[in-house]
Amino acid sequence: MADVKKRILKIAKLLRIAAIVSKVFVIIAIVVTVLQIVASFSLNAPIFQGLYDGNLNDIESLLGESAVFTGLVESGTLRGIDPVFRKAIELFITLSSLIVLLGYISFFKRLVTHILKEQQPFSLETAKRMRKGSYALLLLVLVNPVLGLLMFLLMRFFSLIFEYGAYLQEKADKTNRIQEEVIVSLAEITESKSEQTGQHIKRVSEYSRILATQMGLGEEAVEKLRLASTMHDLGKLMIPSEILDKPGRLTDEEFAVIKKHPGYGEHLLHSVEGDTMTLARTIALEHHERVDGRGYPNGEHGEEISLEGRIVAVADVYDALTSRRSYKEAWDSRRAYDEIVKGSGTQFDAQVVEAFKAAYAEIDATRQKYADVA
Ligand SMILES: [Fe+2]
Ligand SMILES: [Fe+2]
Repeated sequence: MADVKKRILKIAKLLRIAAIVSKVFVIIAIVVTVLQIVASFSLNAPIFQGLYDGNLNDIESLLGESAVFTGLVESGTLRGIDPVFRKAIELFITLSSLIVLLGYISFFKRLVTHILKEQQPFSLETAKRMRKGSYALLLLVLVNPVLGLLMFLLMRFFSLIFEYGAYLQEKADKTNRIQEEVIVSLAEITESKSEQTGQHIKRVSEYSRILATQMGLGEEAVEKLRLASTMHDLGKLMIPSEILDKPGRLTDEEFAVIKKHPGYGEHLLHSVEGDTMTLARTIALEHHERVDGRGYPNGEHGEEISLEGRIVAVADVYDALTSRRSYKEAWDSRRAYDEIVKGSGTQFDAQVVEAFKAAYAEIDATRQKYADVA
């Protein structure tokens, strides 16, 4: 999947350059044609005379060689008209064709730009606009029936593609929504089983989103992380409730059982497919790792831990600190902030901590927004 995406983005980049270059050429041709029109009306004016006799003839002959323009000029309707007006009418036809061409190129460029920004280019709204726009193209039929009809049909064809694209996208969105609902349900089941009542999962996923955005991850990657992080404690489903819900401190043996939840989470998700689910598996496994290698379950160091795992580690601990637990009161957010900063480079990735510091105001606002109701 990633390869396909890379290839599409590469092609889109090239197409965008081609669109920009052709746009420049068409705009030059439009300017030249306008000048020619003015010149053809003012053949006597020395400035236009000079222009008309000079370079412009070259461009005119260049355009004249293309089949479309020759067809336009030779449509026959212009015979018997004063040569100066005939020339002007010919040029107007050229001009209108160039403007339509510019419209097509601009539209194409927009489409490619959408793809490059990884936005969904198809929409019912665009399809509707294109259908309406196609009627304007019918005006060209008055000038040249073949060209007019061709442009009209082409635009209708594009509108159909856009409608179909929008339909497919809607279906994909629905599938994604269902997947998201399943993920959220799984997360909620985990939450209801553990003593972390309230909005722990919501907050951790929101903090992760904020941190990832602050670190410059792309929109799609951020959204994937937001969703995948909701399943970080999935493995707690396998931990006996007596241990999870035990009031007060845990014994060493009990804590050893708790420490198994990352491995259980990974195991529960071991056969899943899809980017978000595989990321969820990684996060479930790694969210208690520390960059100094003293975390669990595998004692991974630094960048052996995925970036997402390092992000969720900060989000999860900050939320644990600022929430009430059976064995402790909720810390005030400044104290928790200091604790996270203190762990930079040992418990937490220093870059994630920098992002945490930079985005702290937003993180704290999110904490208040999704605060647990007592
Ligand atoms: Fe956990
Ligand atoms: Fe957690």
